[in-house]
Amino acid sequence: MAYGISRPEAFALLQDHVKTPNMLKHCLASEAVMRALAEHLGEDPEKWGLAGLLHDLDAETHTDLTVHTIETARILTGRGLDAEIIEAIRLHNETAHPGEKRSTPFHHLLAAGETITGLIVATALVYPDKRLASVKPKSVRKRIKERAFAAGANRDIIRECEVAGIPLAEFCDLCLVAMQGIAGDLDL
Ligand SMILES: [Fe+2]
Repeated sequence: MAYGISRPEAFALLQDHVKTPNMLKHCLASEAVMRALAEHLGEDPEKWGLAGLLHDLDAETHTDLTVHTIETARILTGRGLDAEIIEAIRLHNETAHPGEKRSTPFHHLLAAGETITGLIVATALVYPDKRLASVKPKSVRKRIKERAFAAGANRDIIRECEVAGIPLAEFCDLCLVAMQGIAGDLDL
């Protein structure tokens, strides 16, 4: 348990705070994406996976973007979670932290990775069988260019993958494959 909280403890904590199935699935998708991105860059999948899994711990109780992540950081600090993970989680929502900016690949890829999960789900849902397995990598890339499609997925934040050194097309492919790997958990 290198980061203060084990994965089973983190998942139990998440279930204490996040109740809606779709939000839980979003957290699991973010975990899978972060693990894949860490493996791609030679970083630690356990560390990056915990960031993905726990990043929206207060999303149901603190929906206002000017405060979202503040309660999460308080809870996770109390639980002894690794400070770098807490920092990445705080900064995935810069709106709650005026004057602070994402500055490392870990910060940028948590923000970009959790954001693209929604767009990938939306892409799967327009296929006739609504299955992630049917989604082609080029469809995700095409949908990113369509501003009106899954408009809630901020394209500027998705493009932060490039600041972290991963070209957008490669980022889309990595995230899609990661989510396809847990399609059963996502009911897709
Ligand atoms: Fe999120």
